[in-house]
Amino acid sequence: MTSDTRIEDIDHIEFYVGNAKQSAHYYQSVMGFDLVAYSGPETGQRDRATYLLQQGKIRLALTTSISSDTEIAEHIHKHGDGVHDVAFETADAKSLYESALAGGAHSVQEPTVLKDDDGEVIKASVKTYGDTIHSFIERKNFKGLFLPHFAKRSSPNRLGNAGLRAVDHIVGNVDWNRMDAVCKFYEQAFGFRQFQSFDDADISTEYSALRSKVMTSPDERIKLPINEPAEGKKKSQIEEYLKFYHGEGVQHIALITADILSTVREMRSRGAEFISVPASYYETLGERIKGLKESVSELKSESILVDQDEHGYMLQIFTKPVEDRPTLFYEVIQRRGSKSFGKGNFKALFEAIERDQAARGNL
Ligand code: FE2
Repeated sequence: MTSDTRIEDIDHIEFYVGNAKQSAHYYQSVMGFDLVAYSGPETGQRDRATYLLQQGKIRLALTTSISSDTEIAEHIHKHGDGVHDVAFETADAKSLYESALAGGAHSVQEPTVLKDDDGEVIKASVKTYGDTIHSFIERKNFKGLFLPHFAKRSSPNRLGNAGLRAVDHIVGNVDWNRMDAVCKFYEQAFGFRQFQSFDDADISTEYSALRSKVMTSPDERIKLPINEPAEGKKKSQIEEYLKFYHGEGVQHIALITADILSTVREMRSRGAEFISVPASYYETLGERIKGLKESVSELKSESILVDQDEHGYMLQIFTKPVEDRPTLFYEVIQRRGSKSFGKGNFKALFEAIERDQAARGNL
């Protein structure tokens, strides 16, 4: 790839949801996002409404269909609420699109010029796993807020943010024996490479297992781990996801904070539900993690996990699924040097997830 086809960063993440107006309230009140823009019939979009939410550098676009016969409605019928598009920011959408197609990507939308009084944006899209897509957004000739036909909107009941700053990584769940092909796709279509890998000996409990590889953009700004199920005694959480999402899709989005204790306390006080961790996990934590700055008892009371590698340590916590289907959830992460994704926590985490899975009768 030449430098002008470089993927600069994650531009935004677009969700297809059953009721965007109400989802937008959840992201504001519970997660601490600000409503910043809106697009819908009032702004010239006839078939959909989209609410753009922002916190730090994180931009989430919540889109719903306002009729029953759209591709959006079909996506929601099949998958429930979920991520449709992990959009990349680029300086040249056309050449990025062309190099992705040359690398084997399937087109969803050819480079298209979107225009309004603020200028023009070039947008193109290709398929990735399942019904998920990657759009390429080029807005160098655009001075508006987000995209053409979006109007400024602000939060009516502003509670303030929760300290979330940026996307750390976005994880995809893919079908049995599909991980290697999907990782190869990221190499060939986007010039990504493998960052780190875990085998199923790392990530297994008595009942379930998975394999995971982390793919990264050349400058390591974007990290997209890919999970596939592996054989276990009972059904793994990846299989549960694939069944209820009706196919492959985004499993979790990890959001960075500079102070995980205050972010988690803030989110809990607003009604966020997190996975709890067995008390035994904390018994030897102070000995296991070198130079731990946080108090073990505070981490324990918030169920925050800690992992380390040769670069330092990281703190992480996972929400419960944010829909009734056991599909998408969030991770809140604070890095103190470590580049880990929490390998050392997978076992403790999965045992906790499996208690919830058993309670739903899906183990
Ligand atoms: Fe993660």
